[in-house]
Amino acid sequence: MSPIDLRSDTVTQPTPEMRRAMYEAEVGDDVYGEDPTVNRLEAMAAQRMGKEAAVFVASGTMANLVCGLTHCQRGDEALIGSRSHILMYEVASLAAFGGVQLRTVPNDERGMMDPDQVEAAMRPKDDHQPRTAMVAVENTHNRCSGAVLDSEDIGALAEVAHRHGAAFHIDGARIFNAAVALDAPPAELARPADTITFCLSKGLSCPVGSVVCGGKETIARVRRNRKMVGGGMRQAGIIAAAGIVALESMVGRLKEDHDNAKRLAQGLARLPGITLDPTRIQTNIVIFGVNDRPAETFLEAFKARGVLASFPERGKVRMVTHYGITGQDVDEALNVAEAITRGRAYGSR
Ligand SMILES: Cc1ncc(COP(=O)(O)O)c(C=O)c1O
Repeated sequence: MSPIDLRSDTVTQPTPEMRRAMYEAEVGDDVYGEDPTVNRLEAMAAQRMGKEAAVFVASGTMANLVCGLTHCQRGDEALIGSRSHILMYEVASLAAFGGVQLRTVPNDERGMMDPDQVEAAMRPKDDHQPRTAMVAVENTHNRCSGAVLDSEDIGALAEVAHRHGAAFHIDGARIFNAAVALDAPPAELARPADTITFCLSKGLSCPVGSVVCGGKETIARVRRNRKMVGGGMRQAGIIAAAGIVALESMVGRLKEDHDNAKRLAQGLARLPGITLDPTRIQTNIVIFGVNDRPAETFLEAFKARGVLASFPERGKVRMVTHYGITGQDVDEALNVAEAITRGRAYGSR
C-alpha cells in the first residue's frame, strides 16, 4: 500500500496526458532558441503573467537565483522576508554566487512585509552602504502555511521598491494557487513585478521546471544568467511539454487541493495537542503546532501508519495537499491523526 504523501506538492507525478505530450514533443536546441515546445511554453507563460517574455529554467531555486543575479551587482543588498524560501532553503545562493548581501524584513503570519519596515530598510545613497537593488516577496508563502498576498499588498511593496530604484521580484512558486484562492488572474498579481517566477513542478504536477517572466530586456539578461549557472538545457521541450499541459489543464483543479487542505485543517484543529486556526488556510499548505510531544515523534507515528508529513521547524508539522491526494486520503489522514492524538496508535497499521 503506497503511503499518503503529504510532505509536499513536489512529490506529484506527471499526469498521463503529460507523459504522452512529453513522448510526442517536438524538440530542438533551446540554447539556440530552436526548441518549438520550449518557445511555446515561454510564450504561454508570458501571456498568463501579462509580461513581454519568459524563460524556462530547471527549478524554482534557479529561477530566484538568476533573477537575483539579474537585478543585483556584487556588493548590493536584497531585501527578503524573514521566513522566505530564498532565505531558508536556497543555500544562500545569491550570496554565494552573486556576492549579494541578503537582508531580512519580518514576515507576518500572512507572509506580508510591512511596507513601512521595507521603506526603513532601504539604503540611502551613501558610499559606506550597499545599494538596495531588489525587494523580493513570496506568494503564496510556503512557511506561512500557503498564505496569499493580494494585489493591494503586492502593489504597496512594489511601490516602495520602485520609488527607491530597486527591482521588485515575486517568488511565485505557487502563484497559481494564490490566483485561484483570490479568484484573480495571475497577471493582476504579477503586474508590478519586474520579474515573477512560478514552478511547474509543484501543484501543477510537472516532473521538472519553473518559468521566469518579465520585460523583454530583463528576460534577455535572465537568459544569459541562466546560461552562466549551467541552466541551458538543449532539447528541453521534452520537459516543457508537460508544462504546456499543466498550464492548459492543471490550474483549474487547484481549488480541489485548497478544499482538501481546508477540510484537513478543520479536522486537525479539533484534535487535542494540535494548535491550528483552520480559518487561516487559504491554499494547499497546512502547518500546525504540536504541543504535547516533539513534532518528530508525531511524524514518526504518522509514518508508521502510512501517512507522510514534513517538519518545517521546531514544534511544527506541515501537510500539503496536491494532485495525488484525494478526499478519501484526507479522511484517512484524519483518522490516523485522531488515533495518534487520542493515544490509541503508536504501532504500525
Ligand atoms: C516559495 C518557494 N520558492 C522556491 C522554491 C524552490 O523550488 P525548487 O524546489 O524547484 O528549487 C520552493 C520550493 O518548495 C518554494 O516553496
